[in-house]
Amino acid sequence: MIYFDNAATSFPKPDFVKQAVIDAIDSIGSDGRGAHEMTLRASRIVYSCRENIAKLFNAEPTRVCFTLNATMALNTAILGLINQNDHVITTVQEHNSVLRPLYKTGADLTFLPIDGKGNTKIDMLCKNLKSNTKAVVLSHVSNVTGNVIDIERVGKLCKENNLYFIVDAAQSAGVFDIDMKKMNISVLCFTGHKGLLGVQGTGGLCVAKEVEINPLVVGGSGIHSFSHTQPDEYPTRLEAGTLNAHSLAGLNASVSWLNENGFAGLREKETNLAKIFYSEICKIPEIKIYGDVLSKNHGAIVSINIANEDAGMVSDALYQDFGICTRAGAHCAPLIHKAFGTTKQGMVRFSFSHQNTEDEVRQVIEAIKQLLP
Ligand code: ALA
Repeated sequence: MIYFDNAATSFPKPDFVKQAVIDAIDSIGSDGRGAHEMTLRASRIVYSCRENIAKLFNAEPTRVCFTLNATMALNTAILGLINQNDHVITTVQEHNSVLRPLYKTGADLTFLPIDGKGNTKIDMLCKNLKSNTKAVVLSHVSNVTGNVIDIERVGKLCKENNLYFIVDAAQSAGVFDIDMKKMNISVLCFTGHKGLLGVQGTGGLCVAKEVEINPLVVGGSGIHSFSHTQPDEYPTRLEAGTLNAHSLAGLNASVSWLNENGFAGLREKETNLAKIFYSEICKIPEIKIYGDVLSKNHGAIVSINIANEDAGMVSDALYQDFGICTRAGAHCAPLIHKAFGTTKQGMVRFSFSHQNTEDEVRQVIEAIKQLLP
């Protein structure tokens, strides 16, 4: 099997991550729910994970709030800050984890368009400001094209115009540098199981100091049990119910590793594989490629189509005939597919990791050649 679906979830997980999860299953109680050694072990792991995440993103450890995934983090940020009287600027490259919560707020929405290579037209942001614009919400890296938005530039514009800046880092956390303070990010939403190399069921939001989010979910908090409302203080404010501490033990191990070893080398390896793939398949006239793969900053994602073949059929053939794992269809990102005219055909997405090899890339290129009409 050749695994080119790392934008869905990274695979394989490092051995030290697996071991940390197993050790936690064998040794911890429930974080923040008592003072015996088992609960304290859980709390130490969870707090260490907050510190590691805070270090990676230059965030406040006590304002790192854990969720099950990036979708839950984005729902919490968007529904907790935006209401129907607000105007929000977002982009056509967004995933449904941004779009559906935004639609649910009832707010007035402006979608920044893309150019022919899928790059978001950030120049249009200021022209679209209204008196009630409250926030800019966007994904750092497109899960369809791998194109990167310059979030430092957007953060500066948000600061100048007194707007919240909510960033979906699902495809960029652990891949590209993110500094919440330098980039003026109000809320950074991340998942643990992609570039951060952890297991599924982890994610969270880092909330900047001056930002107060209304909790989406309320319930058990381990403190203030006689109060009718969720405690105000972070991280408890946004963490009702028992955390997934077993999986957070894995995330703690992987983010600690990333903090110690850095991730620029991993990114270089995977983006280099994407470029090798691109530079070979762009020579094939029947192949359509979406995205600005050769740009200086680009995620390790290349989405293509073979002539007018249905993307789902191509992806199935790649797996059934050659054992190559890709993701086809609309990738939960409807507006970018509308912009590219691929709502019916979909695209076949190849997403690379530092664990893939040039040999695997060459095997995939040969497989694609065999599928040409
Ligand atoms: N949102 C993830 C993807 O792009 C799952 O595949």
